[in-house]
Amino acid sequence: MSSRGLNLGCRQRCKEGVLKILSKIPEELRSLINKLHKQALAENLKVYLVGGFVRDLILRVKNLDLDIVIEGDGIKFAERFAMPFGVKLTAHRQFGTATVLLKSGLKVDFSSARKESYPKPAHLPIVSYGLLRDDLFRRDFTINAMAISLSDGSLVDYFDGRGDLVNKKIRVLHDLSFKDDPTRILRAVRFEQRYDFNIEPKTLKLLKEAGKLKMLEKVHPHRMRDELILVLKEGNPLKEIRRIKQLAGFKFIHPNLNVSVKTYSYFKSLEKEVKWFNKNYPQRRSLDTWLIYLMGLLDSLNAGAIRNVCEKFGLRKGEKKRLSSYKQITHKFIVDLSNSKVKPSRIFASLEPLSYETIISLRAKYNNPVFKRHIADFLEIYNGMRIFVSGNDLHGLGLVPGPQYQKIFAQVLNAKLNGEVKDKREELSLIRELLNKRHPILRG
Ligand code: CTP
Repeated sequence: MSSRGLNLGCRQRCKEGVLKILSKIPEELRSLINKLHKQALAENLKVYLVGGFVRDLILRVKNLDLDIVIEGDGIKFAERFAMPFGVKLTAHRQFGTATVLLKSGLKVDFSSARKESYPKPAHLPIVSYGLLRDDLFRRDFTINAMAISLSDGSLVDYFDGRGDLVNKKIRVLHDLSFKDDPTRILRAVRFEQRYDFNIEPKTLKLLKEAGKLKMLEKVHPHRMRDELILVLKEGNPLKEIRRIKQLAGFKFIHPNLNVSVKTYSYFKSLEKEVKWFNKNYPQRRSLDTWLIYLMGLLDSLNAGAIRNVCEKFGLRKGEKKRLSSYKQITHKFIVDLSNSKVKPSRIFASLEPLSYETIISLRAKYNNPVFKRHIADFLEIYNGMRIFVSGNDLHGLGLVPGPQYQKIFAQVLNAKLNGEVKDKREELSLIRELLNKRHPILRG
């Protein structure tokens, strides 16, 4: 046990503190924790709340994800817990872990207390059953390596995580931590920036050493992708991006990636535009903001390099599409949409195929007020515009259903966007005009 290990006097005091904080969490969580407590007593098992939930509980930060460690079979415990809720659990037998997703949306992760050894740096560890202390010792930072006993509510804090929370310090548990698991470089920055803490000097030295050894480039890219996405999902990720650049760099994404002052200023505009969108269009689907920030981060790369990053990171089809469509925007597109005389139908045709994420990235990139206004007009007016005529109306005009229906609707919509028709009568008269002129869209 470390010299900063648990002392029983503190254990009693901590217990009272923990019970007091637990009494203040939302009722639904408290009742879940109560159930876990009763099950632990009934089965005579040592069961603990661990990790981020304990950290955030002490910090009084909202966290709804319960992380449970059992000295024993975690999956069996999870199965018995899930049964009365009538929900299924997802188990990963090779790791001894299970997740129970409750109907309310609350998530409980269970695992058997584990010991880890790393056969090679930056590779996945070999895992075996262990005691709580082994399980806490394999973790990233002292602030994430505390547990609360579900038998009696006491805080188990072998590495003085609480002291580090009080002193706002990010501290690894041992010298090989970043070499064993270099994703912790990004995690250290994330927690440091999120809570406004400091990476303490020795941890910082170890982190920089791992950075110099290019340890991030040795991790499987899919693990790096997951950690990077978590960074980009933080409130204002620019702080994290600056700090990662300063401490370890971004070559793990692509050797040509150049994160510079230009990137930072683009990020600032992106943060502003994301706020603008969320404030003005709360009813629209929520943005994948991490993808917007990824577009920002990858801005210095060409289309081919971006495709390579997508492949390497195993991004999904829709994600790849959004990232590449941003890169395919031409100079002409920007010039056209920056012209105050451009017709609304043209604005609609240009922006409608693009995702909100791409549109926001463009608004952040091109600071032309006309261009920005056209994007706002698209989102506010054009995107929701509907026409009155229907298939029945076209049928009534003697048109046989077929592909020309869609073309006629598009033509009517264009006229409506441009203010050339206003109501159903004018829409029908436009269609009659097209019919009389035997307009080419009526052919097949
Ligand atoms: N953990 C670790 N090393 C990692 C990832 C996770 O030691 N590379 C441990 C930490 O103890 C962490 C716990 O696993 O607290 C759960 O991981 P995760 O859910 O990713 O992190 P949280 O601490 O819950 O952080 P967040 O608030 O960002 O969800």
